[in-house]
Amino acid sequence: MRIAVLGTGMVGQTIAGKLAALGHEVTMGSRQAGNERAVAWARSAGAPAAEGSFADAASRSEVVVNATSGAASLEALAAAGAANLAGKVLVDVANPLDFSHGMPPTLTVANTDSLGEQIQAAFPDALVVKALNTMNCRVMVEPGLVPGSHMVMLCGNDGGAKATVAELLAGFGWPPADVVDLGDLTAARGMEMYVILWVRLMGVVGGPDFNIGVLRGDQ
Ligand SMILES: NC(=O)c1ccc[n+]([C@@H]2O[C@H](COP(=O)([O-])OP(=O)(O)OC[C@H]3O[C@@H](n4cnc5c(N)ncnc54)[C@H](OP(=O)(O)O)[C@@H]3O)[C@@H](O)[C@H]2O)c1
Repeated sequence: MRIAVLGTGMVGQTIAGKLAALGHEVTMGSRQAGNERAVAWARSAGAPAAEGSFADAASRSEVVVNATSGAASLEALAAAGAANLAGKVLVDVANPLDFSHGMPPTLTVANTDSLGEQIQAAFPDALVVKALNTMNCRVMVEPGLVPGSHMVMLCGNDGGAKATVAELLAGFGWPPADVVDLGDLTAARGMEMYVILWVRLMGVVGGPDFNIGVLRGDQ
């Protein structure tokens, strides 16, 4: 599959690397083609990995992963271009974190709205699926780092788009039973607000390689 990974940070590099290793044709996007980190990534991943501007990456791909800074995601996706996102699965991994007041971060949007929904509203023809934002990027692509059953949540308004993302998650090593579909995109509110708890938990757990699961009783 031709996949754009928008973002040259730790998350973009990790997801792009895994997708390329799985045989997908990945283009890493950034604000400017020729971004040093993207060029280095494409070189290390080998052909057919490529890099380019956000628009270059989105235009040549069937699926787009948003791994940009949450505070700048709308700007980054605008640069990718609405036409280049139309009709495509847009996997939104970003968290709308505001570090301007130091640590711990707060959210730029919450409660009655979410970054996932803001992206969907700004790009109504994209098929936005919120996923993977509730864990460290190493765990995203290597769930076996955490023993036992633990979950990756997703939500979105298009069933077919969610099925495509579930397939990609299976490729990352997520057992289908651990992929929890929370329903429509309004569930992104809770998925993003959870990250505030995730930051707190990381301090208690002592590192980022952890995740949560749901233990069900008799209903
Ligand atoms: N760290 C984790 O394990 C983790 C886990 C879950 C979710 N997340 C979320 O994943 C996303 C990526 O995190 P990260 O730490 O890898 O990277 P990041 O530093 O949050 O974001 C880097 C990307 O954002 C782009 N960017 C920054 N400012 C921009 C602007 N004004 N306009 C357009 N684009 C801009 C950069 O573009 P250039 O390439 O041009 O510099 C770069 O590609 C974030 O939303 C984060 O909250 C992170």
